[in-house]
Amino acid sequence: MIGRKIIFKESLDSTNNYAANLLKEGLLMDGTVIVSGEQTAGKGQRNSQWYAEPYKNIIFTCFVQYVNLSVDSQDAITHFVSLAITDFLKEKNVVAQIKWPNDILIGNSKISGVLIENQLKSHQCMSSIIGIGINVNQIAFGDWNATSMKLQTGLDYDLQELVFSLIEKLQNRFLQIQSFDFRTLKKEYLDLMWLKDRESEFEDQNGRFKGTIQGTDEYGRLLIESNGNVRIYDLKQIKFIERNVSEGDSSCSQKD
Ligand code: BTN
Repeated sequence: MIGRKIIFKESLDSTNNYAANLLKEGLLMDGTVIVSGEQTAGKGQRNSQWYAEPYKNIIFTCFVQYVNLSVDSQDAITHFVSLAITDFLKEKNVVAQIKWPNDILIGNSKISGVLIENQLKSHQCMSSIIGIGINVNQIAFGDWNATSMKLQTGLDYDLQELVFSLIEKLQNRFLQIQSFDFRTLKKEYLDLMWLKDRESEFEDQNGRFKGTIQGTDEYGRLLIESNGNVRIYDLKQIKFIERNVSEGDSSCSQKD
């Protein structure tokens, strides 16, 4: 049960690091949630940093254990977490999309980022440390193309209340993992995928190209059709040029 234990902290280097250290010491119980008012060294994907104004945003990590989850089904973890966040936002009238693999966007602007660290043992995924940052009451983001719940709705939010709501949405989606309902999770994930079926610009090791996202393969890799060929990409192999060909320029990152 996600949220069976909740640890609130004023300040941590990183809630994911805090969870990882507890795990190393054998002190991290399944379902534990860690929430912090601020992070001094928040971690983002691809070794980037995650910045969030103190006490204005959700800075959240949960630890979940799996029974019989094969590494081949790992992308279901990305799906359940992304969908829990979009469910959470939707309940607050904030309609979001998922930028592969798990950035959460409103239009072209990022409202939430996810950093999942899986613990594997032979061919099994044993557990995950799931870090979630959601921009809530922050309204200034400097050069980042980011947005927040407050910028979307004009409302101020009670962070503690939101944390309980996020936990509920995570638990609901986690039930689909526990019942191995991977097909529904993937379908709903693809339905919310940003730029899917719309010609857009990308960059791979050979340079920029126009293509259309088709979805993901059975390993969660991105499939992009270009000039009649379908190309397959892992996270580090493809860059979105952050421009929808039909909508003009924009950039989209809350990280360096
Ligand atoms: C990204 O989009 O690059 C992922 C950002 C993940 C940020 C969250 S905030 C809570 C948790 N602790 C961290 O250090 N990172 C994640």
